[in-house]
Amino acid sequence: MNALLQRLQIDLPLFQGPMTGSDTPQLAAAVSQAGGLGFLGCGMRSPQAMREVAAAVRAATAKPFGMNLFVLEQPTPDAATVQAAIDRLAPLYADLGLPPPEAPARWCEDFHAQFEALLEARPAVASFTFGILTAAQVARLQAVGSTVIGTATTLAEAQAWAAVGADAVCASGMEAGGHRGTFLTPTQPGATGAAPSLADFAASMVGTLPLVAQCAQALSIPVIAAGGIMDGRGIAGALALGAQAVQMGTAFLNCSESAIGPAYREALAHAQATDTRTTRIFSGRPARGIVNRMMQALQADESTVPPYPVQNALTGALRRAAAQAGQADCLSLWAGQGVAQVRPMPAAQLVALLAQEWQQATAPRSTSTIGHQ
Ligand SMILES: Cc1cc2nc3c(=O)[nH]c(=O)nc-3n(C[C@H](O)[C@H](O)[C@H](O)COP(=O)(O)O)c2cc1C
Repeated sequence: MNALLQRLQIDLPLFQGPMTGSDTPQLAAAVSQAGGLGFLGCGMRSPQAMREVAAAVRAATAKPFGMNLFVLEQPTPDAATVQAAIDRLAPLYADLGLPPPEAPARWCEDFHAQFEALLEARPAVASFTFGILTAAQVARLQAVGSTVIGTATTLAEAQAWAAVGADAVCASGMEAGGHRGTFLTPTQPGATGAAPSLADFAASMVGTLPLVAQCAQALSIPVIAAGGIMDGRGIAGALALGAQAVQMGTAFLNCSESAIGPAYREALAHAQATDTRTTRIFSGRPARGIVNRMMQALQADESTVPPYPVQNALTGALRRAAAQAGQADCLSLWAGQGVAQVRPMPAAQLVALLAQEWQQATAPRSTSTIGHQ
């Protein structure tokens, strides 16, 4: 029992990471009920959908759970940029028998409306990625009883979250599946408020080991380790570095309760650690996933696709159609470098197994065995 677990009233130092598009209330409830902390990725959920999924978790368990948002403003891309992005994607849409995508009425959910829905839902944990809150926003969440966690990909980002009053930081190493949460600009010191460039994203690809160790040493608030943690030994390792909990995404992706379809499950079952890359081509923000045809076909456009959420919105219909057709070729197969260790099973069983492995990994070893070698 450390300070974070005591505060959250959970038994295990283990979060199921929020996974936009892949998590479900059933997954989150199963993890929370088993003693960990289940999460709902709400970055692309409407305020109404947020209310519904929070209610669904509460109907299934009285245990605490978390909700996560993308800190994002509505972009205003120029028409030429949007048209160029549409033209690049048109052949892939045509391959699936679809017309080219159209610019949507809005590019992403309204963050401020989502934030109000979050305050109303009062989850035990409210976590954020892609940006940072103001101190006033952090205080509003704390006033309704939510513990606030910010995602950091560098020590400077972790310190920025501590400075606005966050209760804990999720230190997300470069091994992690899904999007990089990077929001600061290490290659442009002093450029306040500037969006991270490709060079900034590259500089912020810090591995879980050094990131967690640095954050745990420098911060006085708890650190949660994310990225590449797949089993009980990984949990023990992260805690030995000073983390108070771990956040695991890829490990839970192939659980029975996750929302992913058969093509994605099949890809996860066969992927090796060497099969993942980070790419901007699906969404406009670097994210780690399993290499497939779409990633390879658009690789040359890596530096020119419009930033998140524009590219994300323009590829959305294609990815949905590919999922429906059972074609992994045009899906964003988000997964971390630990993908070869994914174990498909119900979430409660996985949490129990992780707890058992973690205990084994931390149990004192007999010195006589070492002495006789
Ligand atoms: C499919 C998928 C979707 C994700 N969506 C989100 C998200 O919406 N918000 C977020 O903060 N992190 C998101 N993540 C990151 C996870 O919450 C977690 O931090 C990460 O997966 C940990 O690394 P691992 O995949 O190596 O376990 C996502 C990860 C995956 C694999």
